[in-house]
Amino acid sequence: TKDRNGIDQVVLRNPRGASARVSLYGGQVLSWKTDQGEELLFTSSKAIFKPPNPVRGGIPICFPQFGNRGALEQHGFARKKMWVIDENPPPLHPNDSNGNKAYVDLLLKPSEEDLRIWPHSFEFRLRVCLGADGNLILLSRIRNINCKPFSFSIAYHTYFSISDISEVRIEGLETLDYLDNLCQKERFTEQGNTLTFESEVDRVYLSSSNVVAVFDHQKKRTYTIRKEGLPDIVVWNPWEKKSKSMVDFGDEEYKQMLCVDGAAIEKPITLKPGEEWRGRLELSIVPSC
Ligand code: BG6
Repeated sequence: TKDRNGIDQVVLRNPRGASARVSLYGGQVLSWKTDQGEELLFTSSKAIFKPPNPVRGGIPICFPQFGNRGALEQHGFARKKMWVIDENPPPLHPNDSNGNKAYVDLLLKPSEEDLRIWPHSFEFRLRVCLGADGNLILLSRIRNINCKPFSFSIAYHTYFSISDISEVRIEGLETLDYLDNLCQKERFTEQGNTLTFESEVDRVYLSSSNVVAVFDHQKKRTYTIRKEGLPDIVVWNPWEKKSKSMVDFGDEEYKQMLCVDGAAIEKPITLKPGEEWRGRLELSIVPSC
């Protein structure tokens, strides 16, 4: 299918009726729905889908830089590039598929322009897979096809759709150190048992366990984030003031979204020539009480 700017999108469906939609612009997942058709990812009503804007919602890929932690533009260039579909992708590994064949491989290689600002040849293969159980799996493989090493950071900047920010808590981050982007990236240690929200939050939790859960009391449901190769977890909610300053975000929309990203930020990944890095994120929902 195509969106209204003529950008190709791929829709994945599983036999139970769950679906996921991926745009070639940014290699960005823009929708993930349950078998009842309920949307699980937030996209702003003010999102701008016209390149070269990044799209506010879904799962933008921040690569090869996270935020402004480097010389590149905010969150790197990958989310503003056209990716291409690999028509002959390598087969699915049974562990990667959760028993379903609904997947697509998107590829990103640097353009001449990208090489001028970041002089490293790479191939980024993003596999998006919808499991038979409705889980959404994002598997990234990044290969150094250059003759010198390079380092990068990456985040799956996941905008979860939630009932109300005051009804939500995150578990799995207790006792961890985090970098606070609101305090000159200073380092703190999480004291609370769970993380709840009453003001702007913009943090990178370091070396978290491989499972983090987001509980939504009002919706009686839990998002589970399982990750491999992605040590860090970003937590972001812009709250009231910052929401008003973003042109592509509604003033009140901060109540309905929470970004929780599997990421590798504090310690950048270094790849030698010919080496490949793999990072896997699996998102699922379960009812809770
Ligand atoms: C977060 C960053 O994860 O992404 C924030 O830590 C930033 O500082 C946010 O505001 C959104 O970034 P952008 O570029 O999509 O507006």
